Amino acid sequence: MNNQNTINDIRNKIDIVDLISEYVPLTKKGQYYWGICPFHNDKNPSMSVDPKRQTYNCWSCHNSGNIFNFLEQIENIDFKEALKILGDRVGITVNNFASSTDKKYSKYYDIYDITAKFYQLMLNTEIGKKAREYLKKRNIDSDTIKEFGIGLALDEKNKLSRYLKEKKYDLNTINELGLVNGENDIFINRIMFPLEDRNGRIVGFSGRIYTDSKLSKYMNTKETPIFRKGSCLYHYYASREYVRQQKFAIVMEGFMDVIRASTIGIKNTVALMGTAITDEQISLLKRLSLNIYLCLDGDNPGLDSMLHNGELLEKAGLNVKIVMLKDEEDPDTFILKYGKERFLSLIENALNYSDFKIERLRNGVNFSSDIELSKYINNVLKEASEIKDEIRQEIILKKLATETNLSYNTLEKKLNEYKEKNNNNRNLITNFSTKKDIKYDKYMRASLEFIHYMLINPKVIRIYDNKKLYFVNSELRNLAGEISYYYHNYGDIIIADFYTYLEDKKELLAAFEKVLNLELDEKISDITIEDYVSAISEYNVRQEILRLEETMRKETDELEKAKVAEQIRLLRIGGNRS
Ligand code: CTP
Ligand code: MN
Repeated sequence: MNNQNTINDIRNKIDIVDLISEYVPLTKKGQYYWGICPFHNDKNPSMSVDPKRQTYNCWSCHNSGNIFNFLEQIENIDFKEALKILGDRVGITVNNFASSTDKKYSKYYDIYDITAKFYQLMLNTEIGKKAREYLKKRNIDSDTIKEFGIGLALDEKNKLSRYLKEKKYDLNTINELGLVNGENDIFINRIMFPLEDRNGRIVGFSGRIYTDSKLSKYMNTKETPIFRKGSCLYHYYASREYVRQQKFAIVMEGFMDVIRASTIGIKNTVALMGTAITDEQISLLKRLSLNIYLCLDGDNPGLDSMLHNGELLEKAGLNVKIVMLKDEEDPDTFILKYGKERFLSLIENALNYSDFKIERLRNGVNFSSDIELSKYINNVLKEASEIKDEIRQEIILKKLATETNLSYNTLEKKLNEYKEKNNNNRNLITNFSTKKDIKYDKYMRASLEFIHYMLINPKVIRIYDNKKLYFVNSELRNLAGEISYYYHNYGDIIIADFYTYLEDKKELLAAFEKVLNLELDEKISDITIEDYVSAISEYNVRQEILRLEETMRKETDELEKAKVAEQIRLLRIGGNRS
């Protein structure tokens, strides 16, 4: 039996209702079981488990999948681990499991690995002395160097490119990985920090200057198919077991902060690496813990960034606390200056995000301007209305009343209005009764519905194959391509197994969830399919016309312009016909 079949076999032997029940109480209503979604801040049971399909889906946060997806996220483990745990339960072992992306990029991983070792060796050479002194001056001892795999890129004479060439690695590949440029090393005279992906594999480096140099302080390897800075959280993989123990994760700005915290035994930390938080980082954090402490730099940009990032995290359903460092310190300098105890006490006294936000809202308000004052009051009340704790709400109201000289009652009345509004909104969200009200335009709807039917009707896949349909966005195009590929390679599409197939194509999950959970009749008429096809073709023609019009605008040669105009005219006629 090949691996794919073995995996599907494990999936078949474990009932998803049983598995999820171990974590979330489920009640049966209609064809589904319902429970409180563990992947967002849920109060109503918005997660359904479908015993027939053997999948789950949260109608609110759109997390969805099969038993493997569920276990991965709830236990914060990767697919391989989930596979092993569930396989063990039913006495099935999957041998030598490697996903197709693993295989495709295994050479990349090898090269980064060997590069990391090379850099580590260099740090211990005679000529690495200056770098070692720099690290020592920054209070980074040899255990820490080892723990974080810190290394050193040297000069022309000690080139990585030569070393890798000797190891018979192909120069083109090494170029693709952002390590060398032609025959020259990209990193020279920098202290090297390996960057890992969510599975703990090295996927890039960041190098820091350590001598007087006008070059930029940090330099990262370029983005590759296996590395994007925005989807990376420094120290994510290593932090997991500590986060599990502590039940919260601390988010810092730079890797020196994370490294410093580790030296005092605080290891439930990750770093954003200097960027504003991205959606991918948020979903990684969600897998780590629902409790996030933001501990960014204590200067104004740091505070602004905590306000902004905190908002995004709260919206994603995470509980956010803010650790404020005084005097423009960052965690690194703070810990060096004040030590472990003071830092721990900062963490213990972290502010609730809403309190921090209200604090920041006050910043710079001109209290003698009526307009500013009223805006400020409304913002504070809006924020307070989201807080679940009534005592805290009262405290905020009291403070606000004193501060603004307004009566407590007036403020309370207004607060209640906001609360009412929130409730209505919330009902709207939970009553989206499988979200029929989402407004897609005609083209989007045709694309989504067509792909939906590809999943349940092979005839539609064949139409897709013949017509070469070009859907409205790249996720949908890729998803349709994968569905067709899957069908031709594995036969019928079993939704729960298709989720496994998407394990290394996670970027398609959101589109898949959208397509899958449309509420449509199971049967489809030929006429409806034709309608979809013509809507999608019409869309393609329109896009092409837009593109040509743009070309025409830029074109200066009159003759060329006329040619493009003619093309547009022909498309318009053809477009109207279809
Ligand atoms: N960063 C980067 N490129 C830069 C500057 C910063 O990628 N040119 C990222 C790094 O990941 C760094 C983070 O942003 O860790 C925070 O930047 P900064 O606060 O300037 O660095 P520190 O962590 O304070 O580093 P150090 O203490 O070594 O100066
Ligand atoms: Mn810093």
